[in-house]
Amino acid sequence: MPAKLTDALTLPCGQIIPNRIMKSAMTEGLADANDHATSRHLNLYRRWSHGGAGLLITGNVMIDRRYLEKAGNVVIENESGLEALQAWAKTGQEGGNQLWMQISHPGRQCAKLNNKQPVSASDVQLHLAGGFGKPRWLESAEIEEIIQRYATTAEIAKKAGFSGVQLHGAHGYLISQFLSPVTNRRTDQWGGPLENRARLLLRSVEATRERVGKGFPISIKLNSADFQKGGFTLDECVQVVTWLNEVGIDLLEISGGSYEAPQLMGFAGDKAKTELPPRQSTLDREAYFLDYTQAIRKVATMPVAVTGGFRSLRVMQDALAAGELDMIGMSRPFAADPELARGLLDGSLQQVPAIEQDKRLGPGFLSQNSRIGIVKMITMQGQVGWFAEQMTRIADNQPPNPDIGILPAMIKMVRTEMKTAKARHFQA
Ligand SMILES: Cc1cc2nc3c(=O)[nH]c(=O)nc-3n(C[C@H](O)[C@H](O)[C@H](O)COP(=O)(O)O)c2cc1C
Repeated sequence: MPAKLTDALTLPCGQIIPNRIMKSAMTEGLADANDHATSRHLNLYRRWSHGGAGLLITGNVMIDRRYLEKAGNVVIENESGLEALQAWAKTGQEGGNQLWMQISHPGRQCAKLNNKQPVSASDVQLHLAGGFGKPRWLESAEIEEIIQRYATTAEIAKKAGFSGVQLHGAHGYLISQFLSPVTNRRTDQWGGPLENRARLLLRSVEATRERVGKGFPISIKLNSADFQKGGFTLDECVQVVTWLNEVGIDLLEISGGSYEAPQLMGFAGDKAKTELPPRQSTLDREAYFLDYTQAIRKVATMPVAVTGGFRSLRVMQDALAAGELDMIGMSRPFAADPELARGLLDGSLQQVPAIEQDKRLGPGFLSQNSRIGIVKMITMQGQVGWFAEQMTRIADNQPPNPDIGILPAMIKMVRTEMKTAKARHFQA
């Protein structure tokens, strides 16, 4: 029987997701000065929980308060914020959905605002508007500590009542930096051949499994490819997935790209760095990674979710029915319409508005299709700001603000982040 959006999904660990719609991670930036969850998380996740999606993934929660992806990230190093986490977990599952915590270390993608001296697999700096410091090579003992930190954060997430965890292995964050030969120049056991570059990922999954036990879902978000010359390739991704089969995970989420190559949000790639000729859905700027998923799906023994660009019910239904994936991941639309999953599930919503296509500096070379780096970067940051603004408004029980432009939204986001960074009790 071909799968339908309304079908439940039983995971390898035995847990059941009530339907096939997943809200993918979107960083909230709503933590307090102690990096703890707040009532604003509750307001936001209550809306999403009652919105019908079977699975909600939180924005990335940091494992180390010295290194943030964004000021306002929740950080879990110990049980000091447990009560707030418990409230978040409870509220975020009121609707009968699953709520999984995304767990992350930004590596070199930690802005100077949060730490001028980030760490990474090696010292390859992220050159993006001068916002990121040159990273320091991690010592082997520090890598071992990071592995334990992923596991500790996961264990506390479970204790707080989250129903699963997802390790962020995509989008150029630390695990992804280890996977990519561009950012991983090591020659020790953590670098060089793929089996070494994948060691941080695989060991972190194993350590996490040890602490959370067999019946608790562990997911990985992984790039199908980095879309960067010399970066992590589709063939390498396929190989890593065969290793993930062995260590045992419950859901693989496929995405792609990074801050430098923002394919994750549907931005046009550099042709020379695009591996597969795009099929029609990709040309229509819908379901950006389905072409890549075919090869991954052939080897994956765990359920597969794909995130990026899904907007029409027909494309979602077709992909599910054809067995190309098991779950439909979506992010940005949930910031604009927290209840959209209901309409997709009962068929009353045929088309999710592709709002992002209007969120650009202008037509043609000023749009997402621009191959000009600075245009892509400002548009991406502007879009992130625009969707962040909508999430913040839901969190503050306010109606959406569709009229804000991407530049004002970006400026507002940067100002808020600066203020939040300054207010933190921990200063790097
Ligand atoms: C405001 C914003 C915040 C995001 N934060 C995260 C994050 O914390 N973790 C993550 O894996 N992806 C993050 N993403 C990427 C999304 O999860 C998703 O991969 C991307 O938006 C493409 O999916 P979509 O076309 O359905 O929006 C974020 C995207 C946006 C717009």
